[in-house]
Amino acid sequence: MLRTVLVTGGAGYIGSHACLALIKAGYDPIILDNFSNSNAVAIQRLRALCQKDIPAIEGDIRDTNLCAKALRDYECDSVIHFAGLKAVGESQTKALEYYDVNLVGSHSLLRAMQDVGVNRIIFSSSATVYGVPKALPLKENHPLAPTNPYGQTKLAVERLLSDVAASEANLKYGILRYFNPVGADSSSRIGEDPRGVPSNLMPFIAQVAVGRREALMVFGNDYDTPDGTGVRDYIHVSDLADAHVKALEKLEDSAESFIVNLGTGKGYSVLDMIEAFASASGQSIPYNISNRRVGDVAVVYSDPSYAEKLLGWKAVRELDDMCRDHWAWQTANPRGYEK
Ligand code: UD1
Repeated sequence: MLRTVLVTGGAGYIGSHACLALIKAGYDPIILDNFSNSNAVAIQRLRALCQKDIPAIEGDIRDTNLCAKALRDYECDSVIHFAGLKAVGESQTKALEYYDVNLVGSHSLLRAMQDVGVNRIIFSSSATVYGVPKALPLKENHPLAPTNPYGQTKLAVERLLSDVAASEANLKYGILRYFNPVGADSSSRIGEDPRGVPSNLMPFIAQVAVGRREALMVFGNDYDTPDGTGVRDYIHVSDLADAHVKALEKLEDSAESFIVNLGTGKGYSVLDMIEAFASASGQSIPYNISNRRVGDVAVVYSDPSYAEKLLGWKAVRELDDMCRDHWAWQTANPRGYEK
């Protein structure tokens, strides 16, 4: 049975929620994180929430020896690989850094797995690999054409996994293509804590609602959508976390590699999000309409049916749950994990 899981990036937003779901399901996560975009306080909070001493190693996935040592010392039988850089805009000005951390880092981790003989890995990919949708909802067989270096690195790792698995019969992988994760664990002890100005919609709205920022900029209201603003497939991070447990179980049961979308299949516009968040928080969310953001598309949402068929999983939390839990986290931690 797969039981001990090395979780790279386990202190991050999705990683910390996945650790919680793993522990609830009886797994033992071992966290490896360099805290470049996460906070060690998240691990302390996880330990308190679970009443469990979760092992954590501070280090970089590009350090192959360190990865191998962690896999060996803790007798890990699988890996969930979250660690990576994820800001689209930044990837355009720091492409070399993105390829280094995301692609070289994944290669290093795979090398360590090979050295130690660990052969099950779940990889955090993104709907960004599809690029501009040619058909909606997005199915897993939609053509892959990322439009920025961040997306290219995600696709490059997908291809690396596929090639390595073809050359090493024992390696099996699960690639999870996330849509837009939002919300927080209902305890409000862990959540999203972006550094600096948030580039994603939900954390920005939450910081406006809590009074940390004056107003939201809505990036364009002239898209071909019902209200003119961009439509996305927002998914509660706890639903997303649960899918990782299912994915690990699947990798164990069938031993077939797979690629699957993780979304709800429902699209909400920026104005829908503002309205839902205002209602959940009881706060007004001032906003201004600005120009479109370069690289944005009108509508993105998933076809989640393969996830249900393959993993027996589907998202159960609604938009109101996402807003309520994100707001509860934001109000309980107005400055994130900072004291
Ligand atoms: C972005 C990334 C995507 C990445 C995902 C991670 C881009 C182009 N895409 O997706 O590759 O996988 O984050 O979560 O950056 N919006 C505003 N005002 C804001 C922020 C966003 O109006 O201050 C709008 C956007 O124009 C978009 C929607 O809100 O219509 C969602 O934006 P965001 O949260 O950044 O997600 P994506 O653009 O879908």
